[in-house]
Amino acid sequence: MAKPKVYSTHQLFEEARKILDSNCEMQYWTDSERPPRDEVLRRVKDKEGLVCLLTEKINEEFLRSAPKLRIASNVAVGYDNIDVDACTKRGVVATNTPGVLDETTADFAWTLLMAVARRVAEGEALARSGNWKGWNLDQLCGADVWGKTLGIVGFGRIGRSVARRASGFQMKVIYTDAVRVSEEVEKSLNAEFRDMNALLTEADFVSLHVPLLPETRGLFDAPKILRMKPTAFLINTSRGPVIDEAALVATLENKKIAGAALDVFENEPFIHPGLKRPNVVLTPHIASASIETRTKMAVIAANNIVALFEGQRPPNILNPNIFKK
Ligand code: GLV
Repeated sequence: MAKPKVYSTHQLFEEARKILDSNCEMQYWTDSERPPRDEVLRRVKDKEGLVCLLTEKINEEFLRSAPKLRIASNVAVGYDNIDVDACTKRGVVATNTPGVLDETTADFAWTLLMAVARRVAEGEALARSGNWKGWNLDQLCGADVWGKTLGIVGFGRIGRSVARRASGFQMKVIYTDAVRVSEEVEKSLNAEFRDMNALLTEADFVSLHVPLLPETRGLFDAPKILRMKPTAFLINTSRGPVIDEAALVATLENKKIAGAALDVFENEPFIHPGLKRPNVVLTPHIASASIETRTKMAVIAANNIVALFEGQRPPNILNPNIFKK
């Protein structure tokens, strides 16, 4: 039987390629630069499967260009790049890669939190500059992390992994979410529920872990950011558009919060010039980027493809109602 034709917008890792190559007729984009949109649209014309990154918009336009497509397998847990309803209408299965990146992303949220509190980027720049004149009592004094209050917005898998790490720093953990978790989970993580406003007025560090949905787009607008303490820091490893970037820049300019550490941005890869200030740590959307985790994500994406073409329901299906029809 002919193997299904599958396009991958990235060459992935060898472990994932092995799985795909032995089950599908594969075509990969192999450049280190992301493929231009028209190149992708041209390549998917005759493809039944797609492996894509979160930078690819799987919308009506895309689906029209891929009339034979049966699955779009996203190599990411967040899937705001996919119009799942449009996929469902056309009978295209959409999948993501949940579960394997929670701990790695939580590690990175902490990396950012520590970096901005303790002025790591500024210290590193000084150490490399040749201008360091030696130890000084008031040099690059930052804020303590230990013993402070950590406010987690979004208490799903990643938010909880962030909470778990706080005990070593003797921190108080408060969280907010649309749904309150069970008392048992709260106890096991030593976390207390707050409504959003209470969390913002109490936390020394506010870390965002919500998916990008219509109701979370622009969630952190001027009134919310201004509710934070002037000594507090805002950390974002979720999705850029959750924060109104212009409002954050204005808040930072007016010194209404102490700083921010951001891995994600409203219009990636564009970074608002007003964010390029000493009390803001900026990283290029790398929170899940450990070699172990990114490899696992690619393997999961490959397995989702193979499962569908073997006649099974892919394990990480986002539109399971396709199979109910
Ligand atoms: C990365 O941002 C992901 O959603 O996996």
